[in-house]
Amino acid sequence: MRMEHISKRFGDFYANKDVSLDVRKGEVHTLLGENGAGKSTLMNILIGLYQPTEGKIFLKGREVRIESPSQAVKLGIGMVHQHFMLVEAMTVFDNIVLGDKNHKGIFIDKEARKREILALSEKYGLDVQPDRLITEISVGEQQRVEILKALYHGAELLILDEPSAALTDIEVEGLFEIMNKLISEGKSIIFISHKMREVLRISDRITILRAGEVVTTVNRGEYDGQGLANLMIGRELSASQYEKKDSQAETVIELRGAEFNKESKHNGLNGVNLSVRKGEIVGIAGVDGNGQTQLAQLVTGVIRPDQGEVSLKNSKVAVFDPDNFIREGVTHVPEDRNLQGLIGDMTIADNLVLRTTDKAEFSSGGGLFLKKGRIRNYARQMAKKYDIRCTSVEQDVRSLSGGNQQKVILARELEAGPDLLVAAHPTRGLDIGATRFVHDEMIQARDSGVGILLISADFDEILEMSDRILVIFEGQIMGEYSGKNPPIEEISLAMTGK
Ligand SMILES: Nc1ncnc2c1ncn2[C@@H]1O[C@H](COP(=O)(O)OP(=O)(O)OP(=O)(O)O)[C@@H](O)[C@H]1O
Ligand SMILES: [Mg+2]
Repeated sequence: MRMEHISKRFGDFYANKDVSLDVRKGEVHTLLGENGAGKSTLMNILIGLYQPTEGKIFLKGREVRIESPSQAVKLGIGMVHQHFMLVEAMTVFDNIVLGDKNHKGIFIDKEARKREILALSEKYGLDVQPDRLITEISVGEQQRVEILKALYHGAELLILDEPSAALTDIEVEGLFEIMNKLISEGKSIIFISHKMREVLRISDRITILRAGEVVTTVNRGEYDGQGLANLMIGRELSASQYEKKDSQAETVIELRGAEFNKESKHNGLNGVNLSVRKGEIVGIAGVDGNGQTQLAQLVTGVIRPDQGEVSLKNSKVAVFDPDNFIREGVTHVPEDRNLQGLIGDMTIADNLVLRTTDKAEFSSGGGLFLKKGRIRNYARQMAKKYDIRCTSVEQDVRSLSGGNQQKVILARELEAGPDLLVAAHPTRGLDIGATRFVHDEMIQARDSGVGILLISADFDEILEMSDRILVIFEGQIMGEYSGKNPPIEEISLAMTGK
């Protein structure tokens, strides 16, 4: 595949500018770039979702026009999108055959299809359960479904847009095995990731995009992680080191013997004791799927404990209701920013004031009449303060790149002046620069007295940020450690229940 001089303009803004890229048969070609550098846009052009403003695409030397995703599929291109596109209310099987090439009218030979899918799944080690609904399977399995779907439809060139952002380490290993198998068969892969360690391991070549333009394409081994990062952001990023604090201030939240769905190892909590003081960051270390989701829900009032107590600022919570927690000064950066953190079809400005629309500053009549001008001005200030890269604050929040969406949430939740910030995987999918930005903001919030509960599957992030570290495994707290010189080996073992 070869792209020549591709540009894509949205209004006056170039998301891609004069991009040339070639992908060889049997290679993993990585696209590396900051949030908003134009990676997804370029791939959406290749898959026929967008038409380029300028430029040409060649497959096996022949120029092609890709006018729709179904045409891309016919040309042997498959894509696993950054935000999955599976139909949640349908089964795995139905999702895979959706848009089937052999589909005649409403009749399909279900059994034959199923055999074909199972054969593919066996061949590539893509373990899926065909009869389950999408809502019933894990993120890792959803991704296998997406890959299987692409292969079922005959993909020779597979685009993986940040496939590892939400996977556990073990799942990433599985994904890499699948990728290696595909490559050994002569298929080609375009890989997008912000995780430098992975990029260095899996890529044959790497093309670096900055602000929509190609910086350079390099071979594996030509640069180390730091070198690539510098190319990506166009300046040197020094190593960060945050001072660890030992807060003795008042407790903002305390859990005593909290239980929820305790029989479940992956989706429950069992006898959890923990507290967060003002002015400290308490990090919850653990492999994804050990009760972290339920912990975040419990401390934001989304679920109520089956047993045990939760106290906010030393008074016992009687009513478990998110509104109540918000009134008590709890804010939340949720783990799934698209589902829980933002309303995609609303503007950046409206998303920024979601929790404050009924304030006199932004509306009259108790939220009935919005003061649009005020909201827009406020949003512009926020976009500046939090470095939200957008063309206008009236843009749908959906059209922002992943990292910039996260900054919108962070701005809204921090500007609310919380006593407790619950941050679940706050830098997932964020580039190095944006990650630094989020971390700096969190440290600043801590230093101004906010208590922060940081839940993250990224161990490096936990080590870098936490004043105290708690390890969660199968819904239980396995141990507590100081964030100053923590025993890394011991914590890693605790994370696997040892
Ligand atoms: N439909 C659209 N309308 C307006 N601007 C858009 C649209 N789609 C993308 N953009 C802008 O184009 C730029 C590139 O976005 P893109 O999603 O390609 O970035 P990315 O490199 O994939 O980033 P990330 O790593 O965060 O996923 C961003 O500034 C984004 O706001
Ligand atoms: Mg993207």
